[in-house]
Amino acid sequence: MTKRYDQEHARSLADPEGYWGEAARDLHWTKPWDKVLDASKAPFYRWFVGAQTNTCYNALDRHVEGGRADQLALIYDSPVTNKKATYTYRQLRDAVALFAGAMAKEGVGKGDRVIIYMPMVPEAAIAMLASARLGAIHSVVFGGFAANELATRLNDAKPKLIVSASCGIEVNKVIPYKPLLDAAIAMAEHKPSRCIILARPEAKADLVAGRDLDWAAAVQAASPHACVPVAATDPLYILYTSGTTGQPKGVVRDNGGHMVALKKSMTTVYDIKPGEVFWAASDVGWVVGHSYIVYAPLLQGCTTVLYEGKPVGTPDAGAFWRVISEYKVVSLFTAPTAFRAIKRDDPNGEFLKKYDLKHFRILFLAGERCDPDTLHWAEQILKVPVIDHWWQTETGWPICANPMGLERFPVKAGSPTKAVPGWDVQTVDESCKPVKAGQVGNLVIKLPLPPGSLPTLWNADARFTSSYLEEFPGYYKTGDAGYIDEDGYVYVMSRTDDIINVAGHRLSTGAMEEVLANHPDVAECAVIGVADTMKGQLPLGFLVLKAGVKKTEAEIVKEVVGMVRDRIGPVAAFKTAVVVKRLPKTRSGKILRGTMQKIADVQDYKMPATIDDPAILPEIEQALTTVGYAKKG
Ligand code: COA
Ligand code: AMP
Repeated sequence: MTKRYDQEHARSLADPEGYWGEAARDLHWTKPWDKVLDASKAPFYRWFVGAQTNTCYNALDRHVEGGRADQLALIYDSPVTNKKATYTYRQLRDAVALFAGAMAKEGVGKGDRVIIYMPMVPEAAIAMLASARLGAIHSVVFGGFAANELATRLNDAKPKLIVSASCGIEVNKVIPYKPLLDAAIAMAEHKPSRCIILARPEAKADLVAGRDLDWAAAVQAASPHACVPVAATDPLYILYTSGTTGQPKGVVRDNGGHMVALKKSMTTVYDIKPGEVFWAASDVGWVVGHSYIVYAPLLQGCTTVLYEGKPVGTPDAGAFWRVISEYKVVSLFTAPTAFRAIKRDDPNGEFLKKYDLKHFRILFLAGERCDPDTLHWAEQILKVPVIDHWWQTETGWPICANPMGLERFPVKAGSPTKAVPGWDVQTVDESCKPVKAGQVGNLVIKLPLPPGSLPTLWNADARFTSSYLEEFPGYYKTGDAGYIDEDGYVYVMSRTDDIINVAGHRLSTGAMEEVLANHPDVAECAVIGVADTMKGQLPLGFLVLKAGVKKTEAEIVKEVVGMVRDRIGPVAAFKTAVVVKRLPKTRSGKILRGTMQKIADVQDYKMPATIDDPAILPEIEQALTTVGYAKKG
């Protein structure tokens, strides 16, 4: 019996230069590399040093010139606006080249940053690819973030240009983007010289004279721009993700390693061939959207689906099945929460009966822990393999998966299966000693990380090393805890930091605490993630009020809920807080968030040996019952 996985995984670790050098041959390089892996500045590793290339050329022009000009590259399906559109590879290449021309006319060139604050419209992907075409560096900001979050990113990335739209649409709510954008620019120290705004018929945007340009007018005045060769090690994009504070981390992705790794993953992990239709039901504002709505499907010569809608409510729980059948989707990639939403509305899968899913082969789930119930329900109604896989914004592509293009391992519910070739995943204890199979430890990855993973954080090398590389020397710290069983299956159990996962969205409770602490009546606060049957986790706040406050507790709770929505955004889904007299702490003053979370979720917990005053815990339990948590039975 061939053991393709074992062979390929072993080779990728023993001979990474040979393995990735071979994978890179499938792509176009204007200058070949001098070295596949440069370890001379370890722990800063660089891939394909000396090479030049252009990611947009490889995603679009290469296919137009290679016989795929008339194949569909992108399908846009928007149940929220009742619109559909298609782009062939030639049409998408032409639209991107023209928008690149418009951006260049506004002075954008190699190395300049471009912030893209867009809803799920084709123009979002066009702007990303146009930025790549010019060798500029895009930074997409998710539409569900508030103006303050956008301002933080403006200050850090210092973009020359912002590309945005008049509005986004959330089921049946129009969300005007322009007021958020104007507020963010007013708040930020860094002011971009130009904004290009896509006018959508659902909302009008007031353009600021001298600064804002209408998308259509900008394109009309532009001529197509050619691809600009960049160093393989030059940044393609920055994607900000939650860290442990209100200052998000700017994950950098390079050009060369990124395209090699993504293209390879389409074969080894996703088993999808050029010409087939791949759909990642996510958002371009998240890493899944970057990697598997935009770049990977196009690098592989597939057709990608850009869906502006939800799994339920647009119009019903059959929405995913309609898209799959209408476009002959071969693989769908989404978060387990989307399936929990569908299951809630249509537990028996009645909507499925209306659609023909004969082309559908595999469902991939990621973004949060996949609970066995959801996995089995999806398997049972869809009757195709359901593949849980594990990755992070930092890694850019899956760390662990059932490698569908290599070998199909039996599924063990609760595990995203094994380390994908390229990743050396291990579990270690606090002193970096390996732990035995089956024992929970810190999930770490032996350096060097494979291509496509973050080479550093934007303008923050020191934060990169202190966040990821210092605690476990020689390894990358994933921030996840879990174990590896005797068969090499990895189980990702929980975060080791204060990041929580709400409906597949990564959020920092530390950032929420910073907001709560700003309320004038709040003396102390804590935010924890509590279990939620639909969204996986939800944030929950604890407030200790200053003595002699005039407002009622209910008024203060309402105000802090509004503050998190205003400062972080609706996506934080921060809706509940409780007022307590004091917070449980260790004798050294550390808040016992883990214990609070266990009480809220009615899990067994050990009384922490270092607790300052055990009598606080019943008070916390009592407070939690008033908001529906900590209820036994
Ligand atoms: N622009 C503006 N607001 C947005 C937004 C956007 N792009 N995306 C979400 N929001 C808002 C929503 O309108 C909602 O606001 P509300 O509090 O006024 O209702 C809030 O942010 C939370 O949104 P969401 O997390 O989408 O929750 P929901 O209850 O509206 O929908 C699901 C729940 C499960 C249907 C939805 O989260 C989903 O489809 N998840 C899929 C997961 C996913 O795409 N993960 C990405 C990684 S694979
Ligand atoms: P993000 O950077 O938004 O992709 O979030 C990454 C985090 O989501 C990981 O560090 C995990 O905590 C969690 N995560 C992603 N995929 C999985 C999975 N398949 N199983 C368990 N947790 C996951």
